[in-house]
Amino acid sequence: LPHLVCYAAKANANLAVLDVFARLGSGFDIVSGGELARVVAAGGDPGKTVFSGVGKSAAEMRQALDAGILCFNVESAAELERLDAVARESGRVAPVSFRVNPDVDPKTHPYISTGLKENKFGIAYDDALPLYRQARGMRGIAVRGIDIHIGSQITDLAPYREAARKVLDLADRLAGEGLHLEHVDLGGGLGIRYRDETPLPVAGYAAMLRELFAGRREKLLIEPGRWLVAEAGVLLTRVEYLKPGPAKHFAIVDAAMNDLLRPALYDAWHGVDPVRPRSGPPARWEIVGPVCESADFLARGRDLDLAPGDLLAVRAAGAYAMAMSSNYNARPRAAEVMVDGERAHLVRRRETVADLYAAEATLPR
Ligand code: LLP
Repeated sequence: LPHLVCYAAKANANLAVLDVFARLGSGFDIVSGGELARVVAAGGDPGKTVFSGVGKSAAEMRQALDAGILCFNVESAAELERLDAVARESGRVAPVSFRVNPDVDPKTHPYISTGLKENKFGIAYDDALPLYRQARGMRGIAVRGIDIHIGSQITDLAPYREAARKVLDLADRLAGEGLHLEHVDLGGGLGIRYRDETPLPVAGYAAMLRELFAGRREKLLIEPGRWLVAEAGVLLTRVEYLKPGPAKHFAIVDAAMNDLLRPALYDAWHGVDPVRPRSGPPARWEIVGPVCESADFLARGRDLDLAPGDLLAVRAAGAYAMAMSSNYNARPRAAEVMVDGERAHLVRRRETVADLYAAEATLPR
């Protein structure tokens, strides 16, 4: 099938990661001007980049028009109007796809479901056709495609098929009105195995796409993030203290929720393995960080034989880990190292405390 994989940069936007994808010929899915700047800095092709997100600013629109991106995935009538005006002002025409909300349940965590009608994302299914008709008459807009993204960490094919059928049906109805779309973008969302999930077999996903696109003219775009990078990364952390207690035993490590927010935010489960396992009897540990929040845990109830100084690998930290990190509690972020066979490359130096307040000022004296 004619297709373009647009890696969702939000999962991990380190320049070295973007560089690897760019060298492989990948496109990108971005959600901010910042991500666009990263893609460009890493040598990615704006002409293979789609811009998603519900709140694009006028400045971001101008930046993306100047860069010559492949498509804006427009999420509301108000955004369409702003984009038309910004494009006309800068003497350009904005390539547009509408992100349609197909109202299907992806059966994943509520915080990462996006394709239900109560979600803030996308254009209501029934509003899509009238909006396409309106867009055709706008001088600053060139209609190129249609787009969905129903959620993340999806392990079931059925909602994908249902959502794809719904947008392909819209594409057919548009074609019936003489509007032939160039591409259909099915978004990202392919789940991985953190614990005991059964991820979608990618061959089954591909077979479904072949079946859905058989005989169609539109190019297929997809926007996977997690599936491409999650399992390629670990977070390394060292045990600082062991603190056995009356109710629970705590292993206090030097990484925290500011480094890996997923357990605190989604109650997400990440595997934790000692880098050099010990052979003594295990105890049950809460793996927690130094941050002053009870939600500051990386893992709960893990049976491990631990000693202070042990190095632990927190698994599947390649996606939405560093990307969602913060400096809460004035904690400088960890270094990032990319391993390529026998070689290791420092791709982000460890932050210093001085980095954290370099942009701040005290009041005049
Ligand atoms: N396209 C759009 C429009 C998206 O909003 C997303 C993710 C993707 C593609 C990529 O989805 P993926 O293939 O990575 O599932 N922080 C959460 C995940 C949030 C996903 C947001 N959108 C987590 O750590 O689980």
